[in-house]
Amino acid sequence: MDISVIGTGYVGLVVGACLSEAGNHVTCADIDEEKIRSLRDGEIPIYEPGLERLIPENREAGRLRFTADPARAVEGAEVIYIAVGTPPDEDGSADLSHVLDVARTIGENLTPDAIVVTKSTVPVGTAPKVRQEIESRTDVPFHVVSNPEFLKEGAAVEDFMKPDRIVLGVESDEVKPRLEELYEPFVRTGNPVIFMDVASAEMTKYAANSMLATRISFMNQVAELCEETGADVSKVREGIGSDPRIGSSFLFAGTGYGGSCFPKDVQALVRKGDEEGVDLSILRATHTQNERQKRVLLRKVRDRYGADLSGRRFGVWGLAFKPGTDDMREAPSKVVIRGLLEAGAEVAVHDPEAMEVARGVFGDSVEYADGPYAAARGADGLLICTEWLPYRRPDWEQLGAAMTEPAVFDGRNLFEPGRMRERGFQYFPIGRPEVRSPRRQEPGPRPGRPAGERAGESAGSAGGE
Ligand SMILES: NC(=O)c1ccc[n+]([C@@H]2O[C@H](COP(=O)([O-])OP(=O)(O)OC[C@H]3O[C@@H](n4cnc5c(N)ncnc54)[C@H](O)[C@@H]3O)[C@@H](O)[C@H]2O)c1
Repeated sequence: MDISVIGTGYVGLVVGACLSEAGNHVTCADIDEEKIRSLRDGEIPIYEPGLERLIPENREAGRLRFTADPARAVEGAEVIYIAVGTPPDEDGSADLSHVLDVARTIGENLTPDAIVVTKSTVPVGTAPKVRQEIESRTDVPFHVVSNPEFLKEGAAVEDFMKPDRIVLGVESDEVKPRLEELYEPFVRTGNPVIFMDVASAEMTKYAANSMLATRISFMNQVAELCEETGADVSKVREGIGSDPRIGSSFLFAGTGYGGSCFPKDVQALVRKGDEEGVDLSILRATHTQNERQKRVLLRKVRDRYGADLSGRRFGVWGLAFKPGTDDMREAPSKVVIRGLLEAGAEVAVHDPEAMEVARGVFGDSVEYADGPYAAARGADGLLICTEWLPYRRPDWEQLGAAMTEPAVFDGRNLFEPGRMRERGFQYFPIGRPEVRSPRRQEPGPRPGRPAGERAGESAGSAGGE
């Protein structure tokens, strides 16, 4: 099929590359001329595993092209994907201006009977607006389909190639056979293609992200209570996650969720509720808890060293909002690093992929270390914000020797508190017992903490890392 994808960001680039790999002729368009220039020069503007093979191979095969002229991309296309951003407006609702701009361009260049597929995450009621914008520019017949995208950055290519499910909101049954043909290569293992009406499809995406975000905020609140009661949230997670009604995914306590989707989608759904007179109070709480959670490591640092951090130095491991990507949009690391700097500390940072992006965020205010141990050199504490694989098995001797004070503030609960004690590290995880006095028996429970904490600590050390 001849396909155009308008918007060549994290979603559009993956969608375009994967559809071309399945044998379609795909033109990816973006108004960001610099991005298109670099793609044409063979550079890939984002880090997403798999694209480095798919893009050059499909370009060479003549199936994948890039243009900075969306109008040209639309001409002659049988299927047109809208994959532009839907950033939050000032009040948190989704800004549809890019989507509707694209709809107008589509209207001016449309081929009869083309399918316009909304991939961008858009609130319920957007498809009729897209239709209206297109109809204001053309008389030719066309179809509008809502096809929310569930890919995860860092595993986006694999998620698109082997989706758990494909959700398609359609205006009529007429278009179904063409969509089935389009997606047939991606559901060979029998994963479902779920057809529904467009409103339900649009709502499905927000409901999915909001549910996942709520699980995270819920576990972060449970973690807070664990800290006060001497329970260990990792044990609680195992205990509840083995219940098939709950399942084990998205139950990790940490420094809060970030990225370009969960924060904005939760808020956009709350605003949609407001518009419709429905108070989505659970999601308000999800968002509030997450904002609070992004500061949890800062609270632990302040408890340990006081509010004034001048003269102190900290290393930060992990800047991307999650492993496998260079995306720092809404990343908890930004809140953590700004908090450290505001308190007067010096900060050295490391991330396997996001260093370039970080330079654009922090400029000269932090030191960019050329490796994890260089970031920890001379540090009073190491803060872990992203659970990249190389951070999970550090060389403890090298790390301890590099730091002025071996103290790890672990926003991703990567290590067992008991093992950290044996290694001689102070250890401050989330919702788990802290280790304040490594390598020696503590005289008793810390002031203000119940005796249960010590019991929890030894229970924690019994498990593997
Ligand atoms: N990033 C994710 O993990 C993810 C997952 C699922 C859904 N989504 C949704 O997909 C959409 C795109 O997200 P993204 O992360 O790819 O965004 P992005 O910011 O990485 O990319 C959007 C691209 O659209 C381009 N653009 C804006 N206006 C345009 C126009 N008028 N014509 C052509 N191009 C235009 C921008 O230049 C940019 O390159 C959003 O609605 C998002 O919520 C994102």
